[in-house]
Amino acid sequence: MILATSNLHKLGEMRALLPGLELEPLPEGYRSPIEDGDSFEANALIKARAAHAALGGAALADDSGIESFDLDGAPGIHSARYDGEGASDEGNLDKLLREVDAAGGGRRAAYVCVLALVDDDGTEHVFEATCEGRLLRERRGGGGFGYDPIFVPDDTADERTMSELTPAEKNAISHRGRAARLLAAHLGGQG
Ligand code: IMP
Repeated sequence: MILATSNLHKLGEMRALLPGLELEPLPEGYRSPIEDGDSFEANALIKARAAHAALGGAALADDSGIESFDLDGAPGIHSARYDGEGASDEGNLDKLLREVDAAGGGRRAAYVCVLALVDDDGTEHVFEATCEGRLLRERRGGGGFGYDPIFVPDDTADERTMSELTPAEKNAISHRGRAARLLAAHLGGQG
C-alpha cells in the first residue's frame, strides 16, 4: 500500500504503527496534488485519491496538524505552512509561540490526525483521532518532529513533551497512533 506523503517522519511513524501493511513511499517524480481542502478530512482524501488515481492500488494518506484552543483552532490545516510557503518546523513552532503569547497565553491545544484510505476498487474510508495537551513556552527534547518539542500530552503521567517520549510512547497516545489503530481494526474486521 502506498502512503501518500513526502514527510519521512510520518512514513516512519506509520510503518511502526502498521507493520502488517508494508507501506511504500511515493515514487520519485510523483507530483503531489494541491491540498486546497478546508478540513483535515478533505485534504487527506485529496492526497489518497490522487495517489490511487496516479499509481493504482490502495492508497493511504495522513493529514494532520495542531489546533490551539485560544487561536480558534489555528494553525490547524495550515500547520505545515504556518510560517509561510516552504516554512521550517522551527519557524512554524516559533510562530505558534508568538501567536499564543499575543492572544493572552492560553496553552490548551490538540493534535488532530485524519487517515484516508482509498481501496484498490476506489472505496473510501476515513479515520480521525485527536491528542489533547498543552503548549510550553520553551522547547524540550530531541525526538519526534514539528510541534512536538513544546507539546505536553495530557495522557502521560509526567510532564514530558512529545519530543521527550520514546517513539513507542508517542505512538501509544498520539493522534496518529489512535487513528492508525482505528484503521487497523477496520482492516482486521475485513478478515
Ligand atoms: P500535513 O503534511 O499537511 O498533514 O501537515 C502536517 C503538519 O502538522 C506537520 O508538518 C507538523 O507541522 C504538524 N504535525 C502533524 N503531526 C505531528 C506530530 O505528530 N508531531 C508534530 N507535528 C505534527
